[in-house]
This record gives sequence, structure tokens and C-alpha cells, in this order.
Amino acid sequence: MAAFPLTRLRRLRQTNELRSLVRETKLSIDQFIYPLFISETVKKSTPISAMPGIFQWPLSSVTQEAERIYKLGIPAVLLFGIPKVKNAEGKQAYAKTGIIQKAIRLIKKKVPELLIITDVCLCEYTDHGHCGVIDKKGYVKNDESLPLLARMALSHVEAGADMVAPSDMMDGRVGAIRKLLDTNGYTNIPIMAYSAKYASGFYGPFREAAQSTPQSGDRKSYQMDPANVQEALREVEQDIREGADIIMVKPALAYLDVIRQVKEKYNVPLAAYNVSGEFSMVKAAAQNGWIDEERIAMEILTGIKRAGADIIISYFAPQVAEWLRK
Ligand code: PBG
Repeated sequence: MAAFPLTRLRRLRQTNELRSLVRETKLSIDQFIYPLFISETVKKSTPISAMPGIFQWPLSSVTQEAERIYKLGIPAVLLFGIPKVKNAEGKQAYAKTGIIQKAIRLIKKKVPELLIITDVCLCEYTDHGHCGVIDKKGYVKNDESLPLLARMALSHVEAGADMVAPSDMMDGRVGAIRKLLDTNGYTNIPIMAYSAKYASGFYGPFREAAQSTPQSGDRKSYQMDPANVQEALREVEQDIREGADIIMVKPALAYLDVIRQVKEKYNVPLAAYNVSGEFSMVKAAAQNGWIDEERIAMEILTGIKRAGADIIISYFAPQVAEWLRK
């Protein structure tokens, strides 16, 4: 027996092989989802300035990008659409000829094995930029928004989406979507619910990418207060009851305790969204030479997994695929 337990703990840390043998958390590319921004207003892939390496894609080249993602071993993409025309009801969100509906058909034709998950939310499609329809005072009308969100989800599935991901945070939207999908014969399509979605400053760069900043007010009346975790558990419980198949916590990095508590309390597949601000911070510091990008990104993503996430949605996914291959 060694004199100090510390000696025993360190014995297995001496080589790469030993460390790998006893490693508790391993990242695997087949549990990553990569977000894709598809825009009706650009003619060629257009860089998003606050998110180095991330682009808005026109329909004409998005399938090429989808193919690259699939070849890297990333199993799924999460689609966001930027329409040319926005209006109060976000009509392009559920139009058969909407940007996402077209993109799904194109991608499915070119790369049928790639899982297509779609963001279901009105904010990119409404002229006021809120996630549902609003009243005269600018307050989001919950129940009036539900049928529109359900129609949006159904139109994605009719175009060929494999899964839908409501991110609007209206009460009852998982149930409304489930019901409409089921009555149309799509009982096999899973729902990944953004259950615990916080009103977060970490979405800043995304709003540039998706052109979805609210024209007035903010999202605090429907997204969660960053100070709350009990409330997150109630949101999760409600979504599970309404039929969610996968639960999501978003953002990830500042909410690792929420991920952990959800995982411990509910035994359901859990996704975490490593959001735009989390990505941009690492990129900016790395570009300044202040940190080692690969090391920090992998440490953060490992932390998210260690906290309890089964699935990670991340803008780093293509880089992770390459880092894991080394
Ligand atoms: C809403 C939506 C947002 C994100 C995903 N879906 C923005 C918001 O709620 O303001 C943020 C994702 C990110 O920051 O990477 N459609």
C-alpha cells in the first residue's frame, strides 16, 4: 500500500495510453449536430463576421456544404432559415415554397443519409422579430402562436425533415406540434424541444447570423431567467409530458448545473446547445493568440458532456471531427 492515496491516483496518469484507458468522458462525432444558416437574400456563401468560419448559405450551394458535413462523420444538421420577405405572422415560416422547405428537399436529394433537424420558431420570419405573433403592445400571444408553429413543423416534415426542434418557448407548443404531426400520419417523427432556453446574452452573434433581433423589447417574457434552475426542471417536465423525445438545455457553458440536474432527474436523451456567443468568445481569444483554440474548445465540449449532455449542438462540429481524427 502506498503511503498516500495521492500516489495511487497519479499512477494512472502517466502516459497517454493509461489516461485514455481510464477516461470517463469521451467526445464522439456521432453525437454532434451542426447548425446551418440558409438565406434567401444571399447569392453566394457569406461569412458571418462575429462567427469566424460560419456562413450564410444560398440554396445553390447549401447541398455542397451538407455533403461536406456528412463526409466529416457529423450525423445531423439543424437548419435555420433567413427569408426574403418577413411579415407580422411570419408566413414564409410555413409556406410550402419557404426557404427551409426548399432546402430540405434539396439536401435530402443529394445527401439522404444526413439527418435533417429544423428549428421551429417564428423570429426569423416575423417583421417584428419575436418568436410568436404579438398584440398591439408588442406582447407575444402564446395560444395564437401555437397553430402557426405546428403548421411550420408539419411543413418541414412534409418536405422531408427527420426531426423538428421548437425553440420559440411558447407554452404548449410541443403538444400542439405532436398532435398535428400525428393526425397527419407522422407519428414516427421525433421532437427535440428547447425546454430550458434562457434569455441569454450569449445569442448575440446568432442574431446577426439569423437576422432575428427583436425590433422592440426583448425575449424575457417567454425565455427563462438565467438565475433559475427549478423552473428549468418544470419546463422540462412539461415538455416530456407533452411528448418531447429529446430535451434541450440552452446555452450550455454557463448552465452546466442545469444540464446535470435535468440529466439526474429525468432519464431522457438530453441535448445541450453550445451557442453562438460561446463559440465566438473562443474564436476571438484564439485569434488574439491568448488561448489555444483546439484545447479550449475540446475542454469546454468535454465539460458539457461530463455535465450530462448526450448530444451537443455546436458550431465547432466540423473542427471537432478533424481534431478527433488526429
Ligand atoms: C430562435 C433561436 C435562437 C437561437 C437558436 N434558436 C436565438 C434567440 O432565441 O434569440 C440561438 C442560437 C445561438 O446563439 O447559437 N430561433
